[in-house]
Amino acid sequence: MKTSELPQVDIDADITRASTLPAELIRDPAHYPRLLDRVFARTWHVVGPKPSSDASTRLEPVTFLPGSLNEPLLVTSSQHGLNLLSNVCTHRGNLLVHESCRTPTIKCRYHGRSFDLDGTFKRMPAFEQARDFPAPTDNLPKIPSASLGELLFASVAPQMTFESLLGPLATRLAFIPWSEAVLTQTKDYVVNANWLLYCDNYLEGLHIPFVHDGLMEALDFTSYATELNEWASLQLGIAKRPQDAIPLPAEHPDAHRNVAAFYAFLFPATMLNVYPWGVSVNAIRPLGPAKTCITYLTFVYDQSRLGSGAGADLERVELEDEAIVEKVQRGISSRFYKQGRFSPSMEQAVHHFHRLVSKQLSDH
Ligand code: FES
Ligand SMILES: [Fe+2]
Repeated sequence: MKTSELPQVDIDADITRASTLPAELIRDPAHYPRLLDRVFARTWHVVGPKPSSDASTRLEPVTFLPGSLNEPLLVTSSQHGLNLLSNVCTHRGNLLVHESCRTPTIKCRYHGRSFDLDGTFKRMPAFEQARDFPAPTDNLPKIPSASLGELLFASVAPQMTFESLLGPLATRLAFIPWSEAVLTQTKDYVVNANWLLYCDNYLEGLHIPFVHDGLMEALDFTSYATELNEWASLQLGIAKRPQDAIPLPAEHPDAHRNVAAFYAFLFPATMLNVYPWGVSVNAIRPLGPAKTCITYLTFVYDQSRLGSGAGADLERVELEDEAIVEKVQRGISSRFYKQGRFSPSMEQAVHHFHRLVSKQLSDH
């Protein structure tokens, strides 16, 4: 096998027998772009906070997954709604909008082609003699988008609908009072490790007693629970003290459980962490074979609960996770490490994640 060929990966469906993804997949930089293509381009990712739904017209250029997919997109919003478009002119490929602005027409500054806010071609000088013009390909491509609470998601070539990605989590997390949520912080963390290792670490609570003593004080570790859906997983941290639980409606399936935190993972790289005070979103984007950016979006709806429970000191927990994940990055580069096994009781979500990654690799 040539080194650039992706290794054959088949993760056993039976966690009691399965081994993890091979370290070679992560440590060989030749595999990195193919993994991105097969996993990131076909799934959904956070674009950012949803633009406010006031009736004013607004154009907002965004780079979708800078550092990996690098796709120039344009969010347009007006009284007619929101559109997510390609920000590339359909004439000769100029970038259209460079900074946020308010204008009713998108106009290219190269040769003057213009578009409506929904991407429909409007006008173009010197094209009177062009035949079969304009055609649908002269419109700006619309990018599949979806929203969850105050978040805007997109996918450049979705393999699944956003609804199927979310699955039963849509109703499970429907109690979140997004309309009261205020975005209080957007912060990037950069970790010197492959994105897969960062996700692996998120997907199990087995490391909590060893890595996070502060968090351990808030959680009843023996009740930690993991649930798997088709594309998503949910971990539930249960509070030691009932006063640290998330207030849930009486009809919620977890109302009896003193949930301190819901850790919801949307394949392949979105983490929604729900605490008594609000939601902390971690949007993961690969920057290189051993570099990953984690964007924290903090939405608060109950200030009074900020300092206690499982979500009390997220910065500390993040830095503890980053330190261990960077050590793992160095460890898996060792010629003596090939792959590992899963804890059947505590690493179900890591196993599920590795199965999904391997499925994406074989399914192309
Ligand atoms: S590239 Fe936009 S009008 Fe020519
Ligand atoms: Fe952790």
